Amino acid sequence: MQRKVTKAVFPVAGMGTRFLPATKSVPKEIMTLVDRPLIQYAIDEARAAGITEFIFVTSRGKGALEDYFDRAPELEASLRAKGKTELLEVLDATNMDSGAIAYVRQNQALGLGHAVWCARHLIGDEPFAVLLPDDVIAAETPCLRQMVEAYEQTGGNMIAAMEVSSEMASSYGIMDVPPAISRVVPMRGMVEKPAPGTQPSNLAAIGRYILTPDVLRHLGDIDPGAGGEIQLTDAIAREIVERQNVYGYRFEGQRYDCGSKAGFLQATVAFGLARPDLGAELAQFLSDMMAQRQAAE
Ligand code: G1P
Repeated sequence: MQRKVTKAVFPVAGMGTRFLPATKSVPKEIMTLVDRPLIQYAIDEARAAGITEFIFVTSRGKGALEDYFDRAPELEASLRAKGKTELLEVLDATNMDSGAIAYVRQNQALGLGHAVWCARHLIGDEPFAVLLPDDVIAAETPCLRQMVEAYEQTGGNMIAAMEVSSEMASSYGIMDVPPAISRVVPMRGMVEKPAPGTQPSNLAAIGRYILTPDVLRHLGDIDPGAGGEIQLTDAIAREIVERQNVYGYRFEGQRYDCGSKAGFLQATVAFGLARPDLGAELAQFLSDMMAQRQAAE
């Protein structure tokens, strides 16, 4: 039996420069996908996987995130007085139990690996999950839950994996894997943002990880890697060399790169279409738009 994964780290210290000017005053993670902030999707996915302790690695200017997960007594009182129980239930999903959420500051932008390392004292000596909220994954069984189930069978470290095109490989952590098509693939190596044409495969890491405390220890003594940053990928690569216990997990589901404008728009359309209260109207609008465009060509 593997030790249960109950803690998750959410690195949310990034400045979100790709979404300026919006992110000048609004943290990227608060930006809205249909009617929920991006971070809520990651939180819901973590909860569905059995996570009970949520660790946020933040930075300056992320106060709105802390407020979002806090109770809003005046708002709740006013909704209650008006008998708006449905809205009260919507709000309830955003309230975290006392002590279930912790914040740690990354005071220098030294990379994803460094952000995770900042949470080391809160993680302690147990396996933990990492969720990158920019990666939004629509799936029947939430992605992290699929991974926890696989981890309970296999143990080791489990990294979400997805095939990408050769042109896109240099934007990801890329796995060195044997040519197999199974869902769980033992990794032989991993490289962060390989130079075009040098990638060991087209299997990319997506922002869901289940990691052992050994990876956390490596983060404490690896050198800066790609982009001069402390890379999570490099700590994982070291763990592969030392213990050969890292697996890529080809998840079932559709991933949206909400760290890019195009990906965010695609997710907005896809999630809107999937909503019972919005889908039909949005589908009609989109097909009218397409027809108008075609007529104008
Ligand atoms: C990060 C990781 C990379 C991973 C990617 C997934 O990169 O460093 O290994 O493939 O997330 O979204 P970033 O997108 O922060 O550059």
